[in-house]
Amino acid sequence: MTAFEDRLKAIVGQGGWKTEADDLEPHLREWRGVYVGKTRMLIAPQTAEQVAQVVRTCSEAGIAIVAQGGNTGMCGGAVPDDSGEQVILSLSRMNRIRQVDRLNYSIEVEAGCILADIQDAARDAGRHFPLSLGAEGTCQIGGNLATDAGGINVIRYGTARGLVLGLEVVLADGTVLSSLRSLRKDTAGYDLKQLFIGSEGTLGIITAATLRLYPDPGETVTALLAIRDSGDAVQLLGDLRVALVDRIEAFELVSRRIFESVERFIPGARLPMDEAHPWYVLMEVATGPNHEGIESALMGAIEDGLVIDAVIAKNSGEADRLWHLRHSISEAERQLGKALKHDISVPISRMQEFLQRGDELLAELQPDATLLAFGHVGDGNLHYNVRLPVSLTGSERQLAGERITTAILDLVDQMGGSFSAEHGVGQAKRELLARYRRGPEYDLMRRLKETLDPKNILNPGKVI
Ligand code: FAD
Ligand code: MLT
Ligand code: ZN
Repeated sequence: MTAFEDRLKAIVGQGGWKTEADDLEPHLREWRGVYVGKTRMLIAPQTAEQVAQVVRTCSEAGIAIVAQGGNTGMCGGAVPDDSGEQVILSLSRMNRIRQVDRLNYSIEVEAGCILADIQDAARDAGRHFPLSLGAEGTCQIGGNLATDAGGINVIRYGTARGLVLGLEVVLADGTVLSSLRSLRKDTAGYDLKQLFIGSEGTLGIITAATLRLYPDPGETVTALLAIRDSGDAVQLLGDLRVALVDRIEAFELVSRRIFESVERFIPGARLPMDEAHPWYVLMEVATGPNHEGIESALMGAIEDGLVIDAVIAKNSGEADRLWHLRHSISEAERQLGKALKHDISVPISRMQEFLQRGDELLAELQPDATLLAFGHVGDGNLHYNVRLPVSLTGSERQLAGERITTAILDLVDQMGGSFSAEHGVGQAKRELLARYRRGPEYDLMRRLKETLDPKNILNPGKVI
């Protein structure tokens, strides 16, 4: 152990670090195992002041810091590089829910709080925290904010960014920037907190946040709808938003192939429809106690030919089972094996066109590839994943993958979309950021990074 490591240990005290290989192992690999790194140690402070001291000590020594939450990110942002020099700064011991302000509809939490614990604390106070995603039992709010996570309820409540009222951040020089205000209106100068949301640990370390709460949505109904064509989902959404007066909490599109792999790999998973259909929508609607409107809205959609079969969950158990199918997709995909992942967004009105043109591109470039598409169609965000045929050799696979990804992402770019809708950039999509945000946007991002982190010690090699 060097004097540097001893200094970090002294800051956090006993129980606040890990240096043994077995203890470090889970922190060194991204959850799908695509990115694996090395570290000199993991350090887990308990207060913002300790985080600040750790950052100052690392800055003086010129040692880089990788902030890590639940390590569920999709782009390798939370794992260190393979130099073995970087320090992992885990927020897991900063996991206190500080206070719920019921009348202000807000909650103040530390960055290491598990997302599901925040949902529970809000529920216990008779309020609702709407951020929800498959990793909610593991991911931390600091990681959610650092990636501006999306998930299934964005259609009604926006992404993580929109749920933040105030933020506490430790800057690269160890300054604690505290703007933990809980205001809905505040036009006093630049909105600095927004700089750090979505910055993936490259501009500052988030240590606490004040979050927006909502009234409990009350009775909800979950329905699984079979549709003929993916494009019909967009028309259906447009109609249902009017029929249900914008009470749609979630509207997810899933292809049959995806549900087939969920049924294959997830024990007990079963789609509650006898006949197979090419595409499904899983929808949740806040209906009120008498489930007003839902049946007539769905009848209308069936008469219009947009829905060809529907299952409405009769109770919360059935609804949970339907959502379990949806939340198991990432795990089923992981077991199915490597696919090209494209986390794209386009304007909702152009989703149908994107799906058609995407199909044409795939048919031209690799007709025997399998499209595994699903996602948050209500937000214009699709996980347009493509599995290449197993018969390809390593180099053929590499070449085909590059051609398909470039063609799909160029199409997305031409259509005014984004190559990264909700998973961020991390180390996986750094080159894509330089390519698709070229020009003044990229230059300003770089200048911000140089200004806020002149020594490049905060998560170097990620994002920019
Ligand atoms: P980590 O993976 O630990 O970190 C992610 C990035 O944030 C890294 O760059 C890290 O350095 C940085 N970071 C972490 N904590 C801090 C902090 N306190 N301060 C500064 N930087 C920090 N994402 C979605 O958007 N929508 C989904 O629907 C969705 N579903 C998922 C389902 C599954 C099963 C899984 C495994 C992942 C899913 N994800 C989804 C991706 C992932 O869960 C989210 O991106 C999540 O927000 C990451 O949180 P985390 O705590 O695990 O962050
Ligand atoms: C999801 O919507 O389930 C996620 O973003 C995770 C994934 O893409 O695997
Ligand atoms: Zn998603």
